[in-house]
Amino acid sequence: MVPQGNDPFGPERYGESFADVYDEWYDDVSDAEATAAFISRFGPSQRVLELGVGTGRLSLKIAASGHFVVGVDASVSMLERFRSADRSWAVGADMAVLPVRSESFDTVLVATNTLFNLHSEHGQQACLDESRRALRLGGRLIVEAMIPADPDPALDAMVTTRSIDVDTAVLTATIRDVDEQQITGQHIEFSNAGVRMRPWKIRYATLAQLDAMAAKAGFRLGQRTADWDGAAITDNSGNAVSVYVAV
Ligand SMILES: C[S@@+](CC[C@H](N)C(=O)[O-])C[C@H]1O[C@@H](n2cnc3c(N)ncnc32)[C@H](O)[C@@H]1O
Repeated sequence: MVPQGNDPFGPERYGESFADVYDEWYDDVSDAEATAAFISRFGPSQRVLELGVGTGRLSLKIAASGHFVVGVDASVSMLERFRSADRSWAVGADMAVLPVRSESFDTVLVATNTLFNLHSEHGQQACLDESRRALRLGGRLIVEAMIPADPDPALDAMVTTRSIDVDTAVLTATIRDVDEQQITGQHIEFSNAGVRMRPWKIRYATLAQLDAMAAKAGFRLGQRTADWDGAAITDNSGNAVSVYVAV
């Protein structure tokens, strides 16, 4: 399992905050079928490693498309909710220190902003370095992540309403540290049972920074689209799917 340090936002944090509601809140956060179809375009029967596999929302679709999938996740609570009875292919590990043999995968997938859960440049670089080590020459690292909006002081500290129901309301409070490129947030859930805090933290990176880290790890950018269906990136795109080739 993943060693726990003193960092309150360490690798287990996300799972501890969200495991009990992940499938309910985020089942349609992105198109899992389109993700699997996107990967299949690179060939049949690939060996795919998903970083931050969570409850298997994406991996199960990818496996159903005929690929051999291994997933790693730092959170025991997320892995306990893995959606398959066979949990042998979902492994407890920090995605910055991968317990896999070198050159043993064709594709590494890190989707749904998961790379940004590593909240330092150092951690993200380690993850890309490890991904390169796990991939055969010519293999692909696929990163799906948001494109950060331009800094706007009005947005540096915000509270928004995530959902309101007859017996619950969920507010999202965020603070953005522009210098550190970090957003620290709380989903605050009010119900008759009381208040539940769900803290999280990300370190975002621009596309240029992602490309620089990937190049340093031994990748070149192969293609980039705005989504899993291949839409072109525009100035208004909020998300990018970047495919890096191991060189
Ligand atoms: C946004 S969820 C994505 C889950 C899944 N990939 C999906 O798209 O539904 C991020 C996942 O990454 C995991 N995670 C966060 N930090 C991690 C780390 N350092 N190493 C491995 N997994 C991590 C969390 O526990 C969580 O399951």
